Amino acid sequence: MPPSTAHNLPRHRLKRLFSARRIERRVAALAAEIAGNTPRGELVIVAILKGSYVFLADLARHLANHDIHLVVDFLGLSSYGGNTTSSGSVTVRQDISVPLQGKTVLLMDDILDTGLTLTCGVALLKKHGARAVRTCVLLDKPARRRIPVTADHVGFTVDDGFVVGYGLDYDNHYRHLPYIAELITQRRSTGARQGVRS
Ligand code: IMP
Ligand code: MG
Repeated sequence: MPPSTAHNLPRHRLKRLFSARRIERRVAALAAEIAGNTPRGELVIVAILKGSYVFLADLARHLANHDIHLVVDFLGLSSYGGNTTSSGSVTVRQDISVPLQGKTVLLMDDILDTGLTLTCGVALLKKHGARAVRTCVLLDKPARRRIPVTADHVGFTVDDGFVVGYGLDYDNHYRHLPYIAELITQRRSTGARQGVRS
């Protein structure tokens, strides 16, 4: 059952996929992986808003345990609006505000779905003069890809369903959940269930 019914979302339930403990362990492992690829110990992290704010907060603190010196910035990109399907075009809502000229940058997002957002983000960082751009996503949904892009670091691979929690939202709901769940819609009349397509 959803934690709260004080909203106007279609009737649905949440099916838990990854517990907070499992995410914590995986994010720690990702930080070790990234630190191993950052020989000079300095990194600019650019997190795509809004979905990656929780992932960034956890990953950044794990990177501190590996003595990585971080500069953090945000990129506001939007492709979904309030829907569960990509609109097919990416809007830049907030641009970079730190110098990237000659820097190695790690671009992070909550989920790699069609690939439009990450591709647009990488192009923007290069336009800002980044020397090298690496990418890191918590979730990868390869079944939905429209652009053949892969991320350098991936937390978990998921099937083709709509997921929420740990920063991921459904019309800005559920970002605060400490776990990740699939959102399954339920038809009112029959009680039949349907995974939301994204
Ligand atoms: P892409 O541009 O289609 O790769 O989508 C990336 C963006 O779409 C992510 O940053 C998310 O904000 C959003 N998104 C894609 N799939 C999901 C999902 O299952 N749940 C919530 N947001 C999603
Ligand atoms: Mg997002």
